[in-house]
Amino acid sequence: MANVELRGLEKNFGANTVLKGVDLAIRDGEFVVIVGPSGCGKSTLLRLIAGLEPPTQGDILIEGKSALEDAPAQRGVAMVFQSYALYPHLNVFDNMAFGLRMAKMAERDIKAAVEKAAQMLGIEDLLDRRPRELSGGQRQRVAIGRAIVRQPRLFLLDEPLSNLDAGLRVHMRHEFARLHRELATTMIYVTHDQVEAMTLADRIVVLNAGGVEQIGTPQEIYDSPRNLFVAGFLGSPRMNLIAGEVAAIKDEGVRIKLVTGDEVTAAVVPGKAVPGDKVTLGVRPECLSADGLGNILTATVDVVETLGSTRAVYAMMPRADQPVCAILPVAFAVRHGDVVRLHFDPTQAYLFDGSGEAFGRNGSKTQAA
Ligand SMILES: Nc1ncnc2c1ncn2[C@@H]1O[C@H](COP(=O)(O)OP(=O)(O)OP(=O)(O)O)[C@@H](O)[C@H]1O
Ligand SMILES: [Mg+2]
Repeated sequence: MANVELRGLEKNFGANTVLKGVDLAIRDGEFVVIVGPSGCGKSTLLRLIAGLEPPTQGDILIEGKSALEDAPAQRGVAMVFQSYALYPHLNVFDNMAFGLRMAKMAERDIKAAVEKAAQMLGIEDLLDRRPRELSGGQRQRVAIGRAIVRQPRLFLLDEPLSNLDAGLRVHMRHEFARLHRELATTMIYVTHDQVEAMTLADRIVVLNAGGVEQIGTPQEIYDSPRNLFVAGFLGSPRMNLIAGEVAAIKDEGVRIKLVTGDEVTAAVVPGKAVPGDKVTLGVRPECLSADGLGNILTATVDVVETLGSTRAVYAMMPRADQPVCAILPVAFAVRHGDVVRLHFDPTQAYLFDGSGEAFGRNGSKTQAA
């Protein structure tokens, strides 16, 4: 168990700045999930914490002490790689025992530690097998088991579930939640999967081009994205973003003339906004409905995807660069070419200024990074 603090962490590879001053304080026992587009520096960040790469600038504190001088093995950190990185010629037992043997633990204690971890992960019947005789999910558990037996104070997990099929991912996601509950070890977990991020995280860190865009609980990030990047990144399907300009400032919020021709109201704090300002309206697909009061977006249905209990309807709006997506009940029958009026409540609208920063909603302040 450990608290971890990153201070002004920078990493350059040659002329390429991959991390540009990351500050992050992680509490003891916290489950932190890092998300961000491919190449934004997530794996690099984990590798720096693990000690596999030195930072160019900045410091990494584990339990309040700089870890920069400590070799990877001394940091008390275990990393699970996306590729699992098991030794192909060793059986499961020996793969899990490897780090403990390196640390010169007594063979009797090694046996007890491996058996306990194997039981926890439900792989006690596989200890004699080689990695190639295992399924992807079993290999993945061995990789986790190898990390657990070392009793690290910090787990680093780099997309540990990305090679698994959908069913196994859900199962393993639940296993991770249980594991975290049982071990209470600090975990830093990188994923591309929105559901993993939302369900596992105590806090989510949104990383973009080597910098932190926002840090907050899953609900904070979903409810109050700080800017257009975060708004468009978290949420599936992603938030609809439509360009427009301020038409008027009203008691009930900001009145916006959209490029599509529709005029709508966003119940946001207008701040310094004045008529004529360029803005972007944001509405989540799950906040649009086929009837109701309030704002209306007029669009022509392009694609309808049936998801079982709901439908994702993608519809074109004049002069908009993206179709609008609405999650609607299956009972609402629509087809390609139908004109639909999509309703949303002004309190469910987001608004972003010309530089992409979010306006405060309903008097609430957006969370700073
Ligand atoms: N050893 C290295 N030498 C040079 N450049 C590197 C090295 N490792 C990573 N990079 C570069 O650093 C950037 C960030 O890479 P990183 O692997 O951290 O991204 P990531 O966020 O983990 O991406 P992904 O989601 O695709 O795994 C990339 O542009 C990558 O090419
Ligand atoms: Mg990566």
